[in-house]
Amino acid sequence: MLSVRNPTLPPVPEEGITLEGTPANHRRILRIGHRGAAGHAPENTLAAIRTGIALGADFVELDVQRTRDGHLVLMHDLALERTVNATGLLADFTWQQLQWLDATHGQRIPSLEAALATANGRTGVMLEAKTPGLGPDLYRAVQASAFAGPVIYASFLHADLLAIRQLDPHAKTLALIEGVPLSGAAFARDAAATHAGLAHESATPEFVAALHAAGLEVFLYTVNAPAVIRRALALGADGLISDYPDRVPKTCPAI
Ligand code: G3P
Ligand code: CA
Repeated sequence: MLSVRNPTLPPVPEEGITLEGTPANHRRILRIGHRGAAGHAPENTLAAIRTGIALGADFVELDVQRTRDGHLVLMHDLALERTVNATGLLADFTWQQLQWLDATHGQRIPSLEAALATANGRTGVMLEAKTPGLGPDLYRAVQASAFAGPVIYASFLHADLLAIRQLDPHAKTLALIEGVPLSGAAFARDAAATHAGLAHESATPEFVAALHAAGLEVFLYTVNAPAVIRRALALGADGLISDYPDRVPKTCPAI
């Protein structure tokens, strides 16, 4: 594992919780490493995936884009400069050109294929489609791979999630939103999503309850500070997406 970039805090303590197994009157929480485990390693790299695995993440969340020549790779921003030593849009570069770039700590921009191979058998993957039209190709790439673990397809681009569900009615999809819509759970229902992903700042107990009533699992992003994690648990979230998956408890008291 890389040397830790930020101090690791222990999981948020909850009285009576045994981290092994799920005690009576407790519920399981999915621990999802944001961009791998971005609090500990360069985001969306193989090192971040390995770190998320080492920290016990149930899933690693990874951002997926397409290169100029059609390869699927991991990167969050459309532009390169924040995370690698180049400027310009990722979509204007070929896979070969991207291989020259430095993502710090000896890391390169990984292919989706390498990311899936790294995670396979060790953790689940939550794959966020970052650009319009990517969803079906992302789904097909996972299907063509040897990845055998759980997969959740995520996006703010709900048409892409709907397209995945039309390809595979059994696919798990997470419809991401930033605020609380006036129309309640309609955004997720219209996308035929199985999960909803809410910004923790805008999540309310009423909205989480409404999404649960609509049959959705609810994940909150990006919960890092212990107080924020405690509030997210109290809201009834089923999974927490964190740069520090090691801070998220495996179980918490049932609501
Ligand atoms: O999974 C949710 C979260 O990753 C969405 O926000 O900007 O980090 O991709 P962002
Ligand atoms: Ca993301």
